[in-house]
Amino acid sequence: MDAVYLKEPWNIDIKGIEKPTPKEGEALIKVRSAGICGSDIGAYRGVNPMVSYPRILGHEIAGEVLSIPQDNPKGLKIGDRVVVDPYLYCGHCYPCSIGRTNCCETLRTLGVHTDGGMMEYLAHPAYMLHKAPQDMPWELIPLAEPLTIALHGLHRGGLSAGERVVIFGAGAIGLLMAMSALHYKAVPIVLDIVEERLSLAKSFGVPHTVRTDRENAEERVREYTNGRMAEVVIEASGANAAIEDTLKLVSHAGRIVLTGWPKKNTELPTDVITKKEVDVRGGRNSAREFAEAVDLIYSKKVRADRILTKVISLEEVPALVREIEKNPGAYLKVNAVLPE
Ligand SMILES: NC(=O)c1ccc[n+]([C@@H]2O[C@H](COP(=O)([O-])OP(=O)(O)OC[C@H]3O[C@@H](n4cnc5c(N)ncnc54)[C@H](O)[C@@H]3O)[C@@H](O)[C@H]2O)c1
Ligand SMILES: [Zn+2]
Ligand SMILES: [Zn+2]
Repeated sequence: MDAVYLKEPWNIDIKGIEKPTPKEGEALIKVRSAGICGSDIGAYRGVNPMVSYPRILGHEIAGEVLSIPQDNPKGLKIGDRVVVDPYLYCGHCYPCSIGRTNCCETLRTLGVHTDGGMMEYLAHPAYMLHKAPQDMPWELIPLAEPLTIALHGLHRGGLSAGERVVIFGAGAIGLLMAMSALHYKAVPIVLDIVEERLSLAKSFGVPHTVRTDRENAEERVREYTNGRMAEVVIEASGANAAIEDTLKLVSHAGRIVLTGWPKKNTELPTDVITKKEVDVRGGRNSAREFAEAVDLIYSKKVRADRILTKVISLEEVPALVREIEKNPGAYLKVNAVLPE
């Protein structure tokens, strides 16, 4: 079968590999769609220290169940459409013991620490599959994975209706956060340095956007929050400058969530954390957000299709990875759809 194979940084191709045989407790899935993520581009560039090589890419995967243990916990059946939860956890370390499997001490993410799902067939633990409706379009189902990341960020920030939430970065994750914040009846303020991305955010109802390279973000946020500043600030750009500014834009007694993965350290004035008594939290992957994500996309409460730039075939993935690497601003999300 064909797989998207990253031999080493800058060397990606389609490679013929052995079809997997499911082990005990695993399901065999006919992969029907797969999303290309910013982290796949990072793996291609060789800048993600968590990626080891060679690696089959892909952690945003949907498919049809071909075989599954009969006693599987969610009662999934042959023929069901499923989305893959790609964060494999140990189940007995401290975070796992309190249900925070997303930050397991020995977490293995598909396509990062272990081979991913951009291939024709995937064997995966049955309990790590989530059902999608049978009439949900294949190209939309993998979007549930990045949506879980966005929802997890909002949940970590404890965002509630009426609160103002500053979101740094109008990329795939930031835009999904903004749409979800609107669904939660909160007030998103989206910050970016690219005009088109902010216009897109405006087009789906984000009331306030700020071009951080042109405008004074602190003044704008003060104005949009009637002097209070934002109760919640979420960093979803990975830029050091943005991380630094989170402390300026958060209200006293506010919450900050750091979802972006910065490449370098950031110096922070921790006295501001003390003075404002801010909660600063990490947001990594997701835990228990898949069912909500599938439902929000299917019911169109979150129009995740708005971030889908292009739909391609599996064979086109290597060329698209090279193209996105050269021209990242032109693509939000590209999904591959595989034939039946
Ligand atoms: N924590 C997690 O589990 C997790 C999961 C997925 C992605 N991420 C991280 O989240 C971040 C966003 O991911 P994405 O896929 O949306 O990336 P993306 O590249 O699509 O979006 C990033 C956006 O940030 C904007 N940006 C850059 N510098 C900025 C600045 N100084 N101020 C404001 N905006 C700025 C860019 O123009 C871009 O629109 C990345 O750092 C990624 O590594 C984290
Ligand atoms: Zn991803
Ligand atoms: Zn664990």
